[in-house]
Amino acid sequence: MAPSTPSPEAAPEAVNPLAEGLESDRRAPPCALVVYGASGDLTHRKLAPALEALAADRRLSPNFAVVGVGRTPLSDEEFRARMLEAVSKPSAAWEALVGGFRYVAGGYTDGPTFERLREVLDEVDAAVGTDGNRVHYLATPPDVFAGVAGALGEHGLNEPGRQGCFVRLVVEKPYGRDLASALALDDAIHESFREEQVYRIDHYLGKETVQNVLALRFANAIFEPIWNRRYVDHVQITVAESLGVGHRGGFYETAGALRDIVQNHVLQVLALTVMEPPATVDAKGIRDEKVKALRAVDIPTHDEVTIDVVRGQYEAGWVEGEEVGGYRQEKGVGPDSRTETYVAMRVDVDNWRWAGVPFYLRTGKRLPKRVTEVSMEFRDVPHLPFGSKETRGLGPNALVLRIQPDEGIALRFGAKVPGQAFRVRSVAMDFAYGAAFLEETPDAYERLLLDAMVGDPTLFIRADEVEQAWKVVAPVQEVWTDDATPLARYRAGSWGPREADRLLERDGRRWRSP
Ligand SMILES: NC(=O)c1ccc[n+]([C@@H]2O[C@H](COP(=O)([O-])OP(=O)(O)OC[C@H]3O[C@@H](n4cnc5c(N)ncnc54)[C@H](OP(=O)(O)O)[C@@H]3O)[C@@H](O)[C@H]2O)c1
Repeated sequence: MAPSTPSPEAAPEAVNPLAEGLESDRRAPPCALVVYGASGDLTHRKLAPALEALAADRRLSPNFAVVGVGRTPLSDEEFRARMLEAVSKPSAAWEALVGGFRYVAGGYTDGPTFERLREVLDEVDAAVGTDGNRVHYLATPPDVFAGVAGALGEHGLNEPGRQGCFVRLVVEKPYGRDLASALALDDAIHESFREEQVYRIDHYLGKETVQNVLALRFANAIFEPIWNRRYVDHVQITVAESLGVGHRGGFYETAGALRDIVQNHVLQVLALTVMEPPATVDAKGIRDEKVKALRAVDIPTHDEVTIDVVRGQYEAGWVEGEEVGGYRQEKGVGPDSRTETYVAMRVDVDNWRWAGVPFYLRTGKRLPKRVTEVSMEFRDVPHLPFGSKETRGLGPNALVLRIQPDEGIALRFGAKVPGQAFRVRSVAMDFAYGAAFLEETPDAYERLLLDAMVGDPTLFIRADEVEQAWKVVAPVQEVWTDDATPLARYRAGSWGPREADRLLERDGRRWRSP
């Protein structure tokens, strides 16, 4: 059934999630969260704990229920037991809610599954008071997404049953494997759901410190004036992981770092870093500016890919004091795999603000530590009135936004070394998020689940954003289909292959050591 009736989704969002003062008011309305793939890892490790935290924090309505859907045959009791077990110390609020949870066993496109689901949702409305509001959450592997969305449309579960209710669809990542498959998924989903109903997850955006990039830039007078090509020499964005692929080798073989991290997390962080100030800090304002920013990212030609993009794969080495095997020795990975576990690339942002400023992006597994940061290096002073001996320890000014872990901001500048001689060296002024605020940082899934229930799409990815992000990486994917393209190897526990160092050295720059 194609979407037709106007619903509250069509109305522009009035919420201003980043505005101060609304925090305590953010509570979910009555609703049923229908989780497809509810027997899986995401539900167990992320969704259940996040929902429990929301319940303990009184952010969920007492009229809330989860309806799990999956092929695994489970009774309601077994499903409830799993939802309790997924949380180490369940609060009384969670225990009370779980008693109303239901489970529907069946195939993801089978008619009887959705007929039964409709009955169960009606029963939940009557028993728990979920009021006809539904958030459908696709937590299955991605090849099932389109089928579930289609089945929901076919069975009329895509539209509110009456005026004033809402029906939304949350879609997990990855959203497509490339531009063509992302567009095909959009077409399939849009047959049943209007874009305003669709909430595409990139859990990076749920992280407090990613949102803090917006606060830092747009709530302060001192940074924005220098946030441009006149003052910034270049920008480095690093998303480093110390872990390997663990037991997910089979999955990773079909993904790789470009799809898994660059197309979504790295480009999202880039968009927040380069976007223009939005006129209003609401969903439309922010998402419009992010799309504009992504559209300004220069899409490389095939020739540029060969010189501006490095793909790497880890070999055996030592990480955090532990000896680890190479990627090709991981379970589920072929001995001659060419899947990249590392990507470094230079991109340019062709607009008035950033023309000529290189952005160096890198991500990798089995790097020395887990860290995500944006480092903005500033141009040198026009004239340094000290000799080279006095300034031996002086580096360029830099502003580093640490997104994880040890969330914070560091400003590097030159200071005189105490003593008789006049020597200047770089020092860092460090702001640690954890030390400045007593409030606990909610987990990304807590934030995003609540947003989906409240109806705030700001931190979800709109169709045009996903499309543009795929366009940026498409030429890289095209070039890499050729087996002759080099695959640089790097030792586990190093900061990546030599080729990545050369990418910057050729421009007279170096990677920062986070
Ligand atoms: N796990 C995470 O930490 C994480 C993080 C970020 C994003 N995600 C995304 O979240 C989604 C779910 O991830 P997950 O780790 O929970 O996956 P999962 O455990 O592999 O799968 C979830 C459930 O989907 C069903 N399923 C598995 N393979 C299927 C197949 N080939 N066809 C149909 N159904 C299948 C299974 O339930 P039944 O057999 O009962 O049907 C399974 O319990 C994925 O899109 C993933 O990319 C996961």
